[in-house]
Amino acid sequence: MRPLTPTETSTLGILTAACLAVLVNTWRSDGEPLFASLAISGIAFAFTYATILWSGEVFMRKGFKGRDLSKKNGGEIPETMGLVCALVYLLVLVSFLPFAFKSHIVASTLDAGYDKDRILEGGGMETGRFLHRFPLEKLASYGFAYATLASTTILGILDDAFDMRWRHKFFIPAFAALPMLALYFVDFGVTHVSVPVPLRQYLGVGELIDLGGFYYVYMGAISIFCPNCINIMAGINGIEVGQSIVIACLILLNDALYLFPAAHRPPHPAEESHLFSVYLLLPFLGVSVALALHNWFPAKVFVGDTYCYFAGMVFAVVGILGHFSKTLLLLFIPQIFNFLYSAPQLFKLVPCPRHRLPRFNARTGLLEPSVATFEEAQPLRPLVGEGLKLLDTVHIVRVKTDERGRVTETSNLTILNLWLVWRGPLREDRLAVEILLLQTGVGLLGLWARHSLALLLFTADNRF
Ligand code: UD1
Ligand code: MG
Repeated sequence: MRPLTPTETSTLGILTAACLAVLVNTWRSDGEPLFASLAISGIAFAFTYATILWSGEVFMRKGFKGRDLSKKNGGEIPETMGLVCALVYLLVLVSFLPFAFKSHIVASTLDAGYDKDRILEGGGMETGRFLHRFPLEKLASYGFAYATLASTTILGILDDAFDMRWRHKFFIPAFAALPMLALYFVDFGVTHVSVPVPLRQYLGVGELIDLGGFYYVYMGAISIFCPNCINIMAGINGIEVGQSIVIACLILLNDALYLFPAAHRPPHPAEESHLFSVYLLLPFLGVSVALALHNWFPAKVFVGDTYCYFAGMVFAVVGILGHFSKTLLLLFIPQIFNFLYSAPQLFKLVPCPRHRLPRFNARTGLLEPSVATFEEAQPLRPLVGEGLKLLDTVHIVRVKTDERGRVTETSNLTILNLWLVWRGPLREDRLAVEILLLQTGVGLLGLWARHSLALLLFTADNRF
């Protein structure tokens, strides 16, 4: 698209140099994985930011481009730039491995009677290492997370390349999640969940209930839901990547609650899971913030379905392999609402146009709710029409009726259109900011409920 400006070059250069210095330092001082992860995420940010600029042209030449539907004379801009994020991210996951496990490698090799300095010089290579105390199960989580995200990326590219139909692509993430579910089966196999105290008496069960195979169905559903829900809460500049950044920050906040309070001595039992989550999310933030800078209003690139699937699957992986998938759902409340609200259109009770993004009014330059219209030849089922009229009276949709009282059009059933029904026409960036603030507020409320109100339903908050 364009070369880096001198300011960008110097800023990214300084950032990369500083991060490299931190990396060298952490390697010398026995790994320090958290600092290494921060530094690698900084490098991932710089690399993604620059690569998106450099590769936009090539993407467009190969047909990965789209028209910005909410701009006056909106030209075509590169699409699928989330692929750059996903690829840099996968590269970064691998680069981080030695830092994540260095202390284990050293410890287990030392245990076997080797001299640490010799091993660091590569002396262990000839004789091989005795890794009998190496935490292979953690390496497995890491490896299968990588496999799941790599398959998600491949399937995302397929979707962007072939513009698949909604009903076909809905199940794509389930296939991508298979490596992770297989690992869960082999390695953890925990299918018990805590039962809320008030329900125990009615269900006649104790503190835990074994969901067996249903737990795998539940995890499969999470893997389908997280990627798709980001892809359908989309259509205005910055919203797909913006919501992903907010969710990632909220999960990191939840991780911090388990990792940092000095009161946790000895360390919290879930510490490893939350560290795993931090190591996956910091580089995710790095690549996503870089993408957001190009995708924010007025967008210079689109993120593509590849990014939506990749981002959603990062969250699913972190939640499932970190054993906090139910807390994860509390951070997806706007997406859950958007999915349920969209259901009549997704399941074809109400016609669903190819694009449901808000309508751009070229005269005012503002976004208004977009609509689905019903032809005389294909009228709505009377019951559905009555339902929509009822929702209209409580301002949950906006419908138009003909002289006979039949619904002829309805605002499209997405949270973005609903927000515009409530707030009136808004500029695109204003709408994005308001929705992201909503996401942040609701997420913080969810976390608060998780750690305080949970005591009303369960005997203890697992943080303590
Ligand atoms: C999903 C939504 C669809 C929405 C679309 C927008 C469902 C079932 N599908 O479809 O209603 O219209 O996302 O992303 O809810 N675009 C913009 N501005 C943006 C982002 C996208 O104009 O800020 C347009 C561009 O023309 C771009 C296209 O949307 O090329 C991308 O659409 P795509 O991601 O392929 O749509 P779906 O994910 O299938
Ligand atoms: Mg999409």
